[in-house]
Amino acid sequence: MKRLIIAAAAALALSGIANADTIKVGVIGPFSGPFALQGKNFKAGIDAYMAMNGNKVGNDTVEIIYRDVPQADPAQSKSSAQELVVKEHVQYLAGFYFTPDAMAVTPILKQANVPMVIMNAATSAIVEKSPLVVRTSFTTWQTSTPMAKVAFDKGIKKVISVVSDYGPGIDAESAFKAGFTAAGGQVVDAIRMPLSTNDFSPIMQRIKDSGAQAVFAFLPSGPTTLGFVKSYNENGLKAAGVQLIAPGDLTQESDLPALGDAALGMQTTFHYAVSHDSPENKAFVAAADKAIGNPAELTFPAVGAFDGMHVIYKMIEATGGKQDAQKAVDAVKGLSWVSPRGPVTIDPDSRHITQNIYLREVAKAADGTYYNKEIQTFEKQGDPGLKAGK
Ligand code: PHB
Repeated sequence: MKRLIIAAAAALALSGIANADTIKVGVIGPFSGPFALQGKNFKAGIDAYMAMNGNKVGNDTVEIIYRDVPQADPAQSKSSAQELVVKEHVQYLAGFYFTPDAMAVTPILKQANVPMVIMNAATSAIVEKSPLVVRTSFTTWQTSTPMAKVAFDKGIKKVISVVSDYGPGIDAESAFKAGFTAAGGQVVDAIRMPLSTNDFSPIMQRIKDSGAQAVFAFLPSGPTTLGFVKSYNENGLKAAGVQLIAPGDLTQESDLPALGDAALGMQTTFHYAVSHDSPENKAFVAAADKAIGNPAELTFPAVGAFDGMHVIYKMIEATGGKQDAQKAVDAVKGLSWVSPRGPVTIDPDSRHITQNIYLREVAKAADGTYYNKEIQTFEKQGDPGLKAGK
């Protein structure tokens, strides 16, 4: 008996040593090209999380492997994911700034036995493409729905919508229209523009001609949003009293210095403002500022990545570092924590994040810097896009 116990203890000790593995996480995002700043924010969020929580979960060491997909490019995203799975043996795939890049990878998850943690891509339907997808960012249905109510309550009755013609744009258009018409407003025209559009002058003319009191707009954050808001000002729409309303992608913090006073007073609805006043956010911003180097560059993909790492650490903990994608995903269904953005939960049915959506206004601080000031909170918002029967 005694010998048996000693043998069992020795086996346990041995297996303990054998369990000290390196768990690889493959992160796909835009790390070069026009959207490089968005990818840099993924990295800042991940670095901040690992600086605050260490690079170990139990005995296992977490290693991040980055792959650059500079623009929305489903074929490149899929081949990068396959290479990460087959050659690097990653146990987790994460990142994904653009919807088409996430969509292209969902079909390989099951066979690869790998969960996908989406740190940005915001089209509602992605989570329905595979039971192994978990999302820690937002959807444009989630962020645009409260804006419809805000606009109507401000006395706006006629709106024209302008969106990039792909998943999150079409979702934003649908969400705004559903909320705004239910409130009693009217969407007089709906423009969808190619993702590659960078001359917005003809669109600004159409907005003027439509007679709408406001334009509701969605474009993916980056040079596109900066160009759109600049064009709105330069073409005299602001001066003519046509209001610009949008989810917060249009006023990401890193664009505010370039927009300057032109963006002052602009209201947007979003899940995260760098200025959010909480101890969790202060700690996050301090770590993320350090990781990114230049605090003026810090913007929302960093918080999606930070919370995505929290989910991945919980998955590694629940599986004891073993590769079991379904068990990992099941372990985070219903998981709640206090994110830098506020209280959040992974909805157990949709695997999408339930969170507060804030109405914010671009304001100028005493030191002359611009920020998104939170002025109203819509608490515990799920994703209305999943219930829309699309
Ligand atoms: C997306 O492609 O899903 C996407 C990208 C950037 C955003 C929002 C959504 O700001």
